Amino acid sequence: MSWLDHFGLTQAPFGKAIADADLWLTPAKADAVAEIAEAISECATGVLLVGDSGLGKSCVLRALRHQLADAPVRLTYCHNATLGRRDFYRQICRALGLSPKATAAAVFNAVGDYIKELSCEQLHPVFVIDEAHLLHQDVLDHLHILANYEWDSRPLVTLVMAGLPELWDRMLLRRNRSLWTRIHTRLRLPDPEPGDTVEYVRHRLALAGVDREVFTSDALALLHEGSAVRDIDRLATTSLKHAARDQHNLVDRGIVVNVANSHQR
Ligand SMILES: Nc1ncnc2c1ncn2[C@@H]1O[C@H](COP(=O)(O)OP(=O)(O)OP(=O)(O)O)[C@@H](O)[C@H]1O
Ligand SMILES: [Mg+2]
Repeated sequence: MSWLDHFGLTQAPFGKAIADADLWLTPAKADAVAEIAEAISECATGVLLVGDSGLGKSCVLRALRHQLADAPVRLTYCHNATLGRRDFYRQICRALGLSPKATAAAVFNAVGDYIKELSCEQLHPVFVIDEAHLLHQDVLDHLHILANYEWDSRPLVTLVMAGLPELWDRMLLRRNRSLWTRIHTRLRLPDPEPGDTVEYVRHRLALAGVDREVFTSDALALLHEGSAVRDIDRLATTSLKHAARDQHNLVDRGIVVNVANSHQR
């Protein structure tokens, strides 16, 4: 019998595949989504969202996409932040369905024309740059120029940048001042509260068809110490597998301790 059958689960409960509509947001993450959506509705130039790895930044961006599904905005997701300036703009071109251009200036002009066209259609363009801490300095140097239309008088595009906390520190450098001063919505995702972890585990088990408590409260307290959601996913999954293997119907603290120790080796 598989570990899923053992617990009556219809799917692996802590996998990466989760529909945008099923994401579970802590109050802090729900606030972050609301603040970013508000900045977009006000056509703000920039938004910064930072948080440690695995804390749920990309999921916040997905929840934002879900929330804005019917809004008059066009979200473009830049999936590779490691590119140099020309390739970065080419990527935006491709994502926008524009034919790639040869020179950096031509690419930039094509993106600029597109932004203006959208604004005539009453659609506000939003460029979402995930993993933005990986942006090359020459891209960062140039980003504020994207937002600099008609003598900097009209905000035609909103840049939403998400990344690790070092991105915030980088923004404080004198060199990035032009961009930083245009970013008015600056958000740091806090670590989850213990109650958030309990709710999260319950939510994901329920999505996988199990409504009963599977983890004892002291096991949940230990899972919470991992803090990043991705760590919780990994520890919880392995703990469920170990419990099933040993024919336990509950995952207690001892099982999680063993798994956590074996993962540290
Ligand atoms: N709101 C949520 N609802 C459900 N699952 C979530 C949520 N947030 C995070 N997770 C789970 O945690 C995992 C890690 O989250 P995510 O990828 O958003 O973190 P991240 O902060 O973007 O990390 P990184 O900095 O490494 O990119 C997800 O794959 C998902 O399984
Ligand atoms: Mg991410």
